[in-house]
Amino acid sequence: MLDLHTRNLVKATVPVLKEHGVTLTRHFYARMFAHNPELKPVFNQGNQQAGSQQQALAMAVLAYAEHIDNPIVLMPVLTLVANKHVSVGIRAEHYPIVGMHLLASIKEVLGDAASDELLAAWAAAYGQLADVLIAQEAAIYAKAAMTPGGWTGWRSFVISKKVIESEEITSFYLRPADGGSVPDYKPGQYISVKVFVPELGMMQPRQYSLSCAPGQEYLRISVKREAEMAEKPAGLVSNVLHRDCQEGAILDVAPPMGDYVLHEDRDTPVVLISAGVGVTPKLAMLEHLLKQNTARKVRFVHACRHGGVHAFKQQVREMSEQHAQVKSLTYYEVPRAEDRASVDYDQKGRLDLQAVASDFILPDADYYVCGPRSFMQAQISSLQNLGVAPARIHKEAFGSGGFAH
Ligand SMILES: Cc1cc2nc3c(=O)[nH]c(=O)nc-3n(C[C@H](O)[C@H](O)[C@H](O)COP(=O)(O)OP(=O)(O)OC[C@H]3O[C@@H](n4cnc5c(N)ncnc54)[C@H](O)[C@@H]3O)c2cc1C
Ligand code: HEM
Repeated sequence: MLDLHTRNLVKATVPVLKEHGVTLTRHFYARMFAHNPELKPVFNQGNQQAGSQQQALAMAVLAYAEHIDNPIVLMPVLTLVANKHVSVGIRAEHYPIVGMHLLASIKEVLGDAASDELLAAWAAAYGQLADVLIAQEAAIYAKAAMTPGGWTGWRSFVISKKVIESEEITSFYLRPADGGSVPDYKPGQYISVKVFVPELGMMQPRQYSLSCAPGQEYLRISVKREAEMAEKPAGLVSNVLHRDCQEGAILDVAPPMGDYVLHEDRDTPVVLISAGVGVTPKLAMLEHLLKQNTARKVRFVHACRHGGVHAFKQQVREMSEQHAQVKSLTYYEVPRAEDRASVDYDQKGRLDLQAVASDFILPDADYYVCGPRSFMQAQISSLQNLGVAPARIHKEAFGSGGFAH
């Protein structure tokens, strides 16, 4: 534990961090990439462009300063960060580099306000946080190495099959190039995949949820192609995967990670809520529950724009027809003329949990929410308004920002 004086010095910087946090982290990344360009391919440059990683780090530093007297409350979010770090290959030796650039950035951005005493306090505070993450990451690396079929770092996988699931989403079936087995994972976990991005001239990692139940000879991911939009450039890695990565190609893959997982220590109902490509971890959960011959009630609620982008429609329909304990509900925001009400979808418009609460909000259930950030915020606040305890709501954001909400 840091001494009281050090903690007070760190806490005193909270108002400054609130005001200048993102400026500080922007400066930090620019500085680190200028001095240590070898770290650029380690970071998601899409997040850098969109500013979300600067925001995530700023929020992390702020949260840490605010909770410096009792950092234990940050444990859940540190678990998320540690999983993400391991998934992209962060090691203990990276921490001093980040620490050095962070402290130099505090000095450069705050100027005279950053006294030697304050910098020493932040150095001690950073060291404490780094030690917690390094220890957690060491445990995750050890577990991944010991899991049958497991590994650490990057392992070559062959794309054995590519299946188009909708106008936007394509599944990739990945088998180890060394002919070995794949590890068991928990439904809801993701892998990182690394590909060469010609536009950047460097490798880039991205995370993809495993979209089928564990226990197969392959891992499967289902990737949405992020097309160019009016104010947004085309997504880098998703386009490389769709465009350049054909069956037979090799991908670098990191082991399954993440703590957004199906809770299997109970037999209470499960309500799976998604929008768009957020369907992927839920498919793994649904398939797994059915493979286990569960008696647990399962509700599968999905929202998408229309039938053209409705991936896995057939599989989900079959699973709910064949298993009485599964009930599905689909919303199309803007159905096309050829989309059939009550066949392709159940409701028109945006998902409204309040309106379907009698069938889809079940006593003692766990709720797993995944989709775009605004969708998740809306569903989480609906669930809370309907009286669901926060501990029963589990969420996965397909981007950075574990500290942001
Ligand atoms: C745990 C986890 C699980 C995930 N699971 C899945 C999954 O199952 N399936 C899936 O498809 N995705 C999943 N994702 C998302 C995935 O990791 C990628 O983020 C996604 O594929 C987009 O990557 P990209 O390289 O194509 O886009 P990037 O190049 O990273 O861009 C991301 C977004 O930022 C926008 N952007 C880029 N530059 C700017 C700029 N200058 N200004 C404004 N906007 C900008 C782009 O238009 C794009 O929409 C998951 C993410 C996480 C963290
Ligand atoms: C105490 C130190 C650190 C803190 C508090 C921290 C915090 C974070 C946070 C909050 C995220 C976002 C997680 C999410 O929401 O998905 C993240 C992701 C990440 N961090 Fe760290 N981190 C630290 C150290 C490091 C180090 C030493 C490295 C290696 C150079 C590193 C590299 C990354 C990378 C590559 C990501 C993935 C996101 C991306 O690529 O944009 N971090 N970290």
